[in-house]
Amino acid sequence: MPDEAWCQMVIIKINSLTKKFKDLVAVDDVNLEIEEGECFGLLGPNGAGKTSLIRMITAVSPPTSGDIWVLGGDLRTHSRQVKAALGVVPQMDNLDPDLTVLQNLMTFARYFNIPKEEARRRSMEVLTLFQLEDRCDSQIRELSGGMRRRLLIARGLINMPKIVVLDEPTIGLDPQAKYLVWHKLTELKSQGVTQLLPTQNMEEASTLCDRVAIMHQGKVLTVDAPKKLISSYFGDEIWEIEVMAEERDKVVNALESRGLEYESVGAKIHVFHVETDESITGLVGSVEALRRRPATLEDVFFKLTGRSLTE
Ligand SMILES: Nc1ncnc2c1ncn2[C@@H]1O[C@H](COP(=O)(O)OP(=O)(O)OP(=O)(O)O)[C@@H](O)[C@H]1O
Ligand SMILES: [Mg+2]
Repeated sequence: MPDEAWCQMVIIKINSLTKKFKDLVAVDDVNLEIEEGECFGLLGPNGAGKTSLIRMITAVSPPTSGDIWVLGGDLRTHSRQVKAALGVVPQMDNLDPDLTVLQNLMTFARYFNIPKEEARRRSMEVLTLFQLEDRCDSQIRELSGGMRRRLLIARGLINMPKIVVLDEPTIGLDPQAKYLVWHKLTELKSQGVTQLLPTQNMEEASTLCDRVAIMHQGKVLTVDAPKKLISSYFGDEIWEIEVMAEERDKVVNALESRGLEYESVGAKIHVFHVETDESITGLVGSVEALRRRPATLEDVFFKLTGRSLTE
């Protein structure tokens, strides 16, 4: 058991966690510490291992090896207490199509032994939070995809969890519904609820997360605050040079002699950590061939893996 000082800060601790499906290593020796009250993102493309990782943390799927502590308790011996303190919003919709919206929430509340009157009150509260209060008697099949998604998130909050795990919470939502969810998650964080957020949306990770773990092929490649990750790899901005094949060698030589960091990305060259505009001007004949833009977590992912998040 971890000591008490540790428990006050770190709400989830993962040690050498691995999940194998036959020969496939879905989660590969992951170590993480998630702090109380933070929104912690897992950013990675399809198949990176995000869902496999959180299924272990939420005691749905047993690890192949490694240890998990949640709220100071070893998950192997405290899974009941942990489940009671967790709100889980799965990636796949598992609402009961035979029940109405309200009945879905009331049934879910029974798993947590919430008394009926209290369950009804909380159900209406979470439905109102996600602007679904007028749909409480609708059948699930009458809801749009976005409404079902919001209901799934609402359901995850019914037990007033200390930690919510939201697997790709805004996938398939239109921009308005996505911003509503982002706004509600920000409010929830201000109430001290810890959030664990697997996503492949770098905008979502940058907007909501205090820290992000970048995942690829089961491994966590790096962990830090989004802004810090971006600035440590690139500075604030990336200069993109659209370079013609015949002038490529000349441009690369000039970048080398100026001591600038660069990387070839398709037909372009990306230049990082450019301190002054003068250090980069005059590299290419036409001004249009040179443009600068804010660096993003997508750039960090590309730098680490040579791939795009959405490939
Ligand atoms: N139950 C399972 N049986 C066999 N292989 C699995 C199982 N669950 C996941 N995998 C495999 O493990 C790897 C990681 O999958 P996982 O669902 O964890 O990725 P993910 O990062 O959540 O991806 P996505 O963004 O598509 O949701 C994939 O190669 C997947 O095919
Ligand atoms: Mg997933």
